[in-house]
Amino acid sequence: MRLKDLDMEGKVAIVTGGSQGIGRAISVALRTSGATVVIADLDEEAATALATQFAAEGSEALAVRTDVTRADQVNEMVRRTLAQFGRIDVLVNNAGGASGSNFRIGRLLSISETDWDMTMTVNLKSTFLCSQAVGRVMWERQSGSIVNMASITASIPWAGMPAYSAAKAAIVSLTRSMALELAPYIRVNALAPGLVETPRTSRNRGPEQLDQLLSNVPMQRMGQPEEIADIALYLASDVSGWITGNIVDCNGGQVWMSRDGRPEFRDAARAAPG
Ligand SMILES: NC(=O)c1ccc[n+]([C@@H]2O[C@H](COP(=O)([O-])OP(=O)(O)OC[C@H]3O[C@@H](n4cnc5c(N)ncnc54)[C@H](O)[C@@H]3O)[C@@H](O)[C@H]2O)c1
Repeated sequence: MRLKDLDMEGKVAIVTGGSQGIGRAISVALRTSGATVVIADLDEEAATALATQFAAEGSEALAVRTDVTRADQVNEMVRRTLAQFGRIDVLVNNAGGASGSNFRIGRLLSISETDWDMTMTVNLKSTFLCSQAVGRVMWERQSGSIVNMASITASIPWAGMPAYSAAKAAIVSLTRSMALELAPYIRVNALAPGLVETPRTSRNRGPEQLDQLLSNVPMQRMGQPEEIADIALYLASDVSGWITGNIVDCNGGQVWMSRDGRPEFRDAARAAPG
């Protein structure tokens, strides 16, 4: 299998949080390469709109309203996927974030216990719940690829988001444990993006904050959701058949720069949101 053969025809892929932001771009990339996409999202309206768009473009798709923090809803998502398509080849554990409708970002000394728990649950527990439910199905077929969503903050914590950074670091560790336990049938990898241009990114940060964060990015710009989606597609596909337990840094060079130990990076990190 070579890159030019990347073809997901006949494969069924679940994308959690697949209706907006990076998840939406991943859903689109998978669909464009021929996969049947299941959009599992809390936002039923957005998920249904995207599935309807895919259907109008000639691809079968399914929208399932799913709260990935709830085991019963995750199991129902798997049940409906199998009932409609009979198999699951790819799981992208994309749903998550540093804040949401029922939890907020916060510094160590001020974050509430509830916000801490929700941050951990939405990012880390959801990855466990979906991976266990889907992993059991993949294990039976002795085939599958799981892509988790970590973050640059897993290795370079930004001040103001200790819970999110810890959750994403745990996802990195979980990814490696999963890769070990699920080999040789199921591959498990993760993406660790830097700042990506989604509606949430601009909503949560003013232009000055963004400028400051970008001043530490050698490529001097945010990533685009489509750039993250292309890597997810590569990891989901058989083209990456010998890659497992890998964390792909995609951040415009920021990890490399921080390892350089530059003081201006540390200053910006201290001034980051929170
Ligand atoms: N945007 C960035 O700069 C960036 C950087 C690094 C990592 N990430 C990670 O990438 C992922 C996507 O981020 P984004 O910026 O595209 O987010 P986003 O807020 O634009 O989209 C998140 C999607 O997930 C859904 N969702 C939220 N909670 C859910 C739940 N409990 N169950 C099911 N669906 C749920 C939302 O409805 C939405 O469709 C997250 O895991 C985030 O932590 C983002």
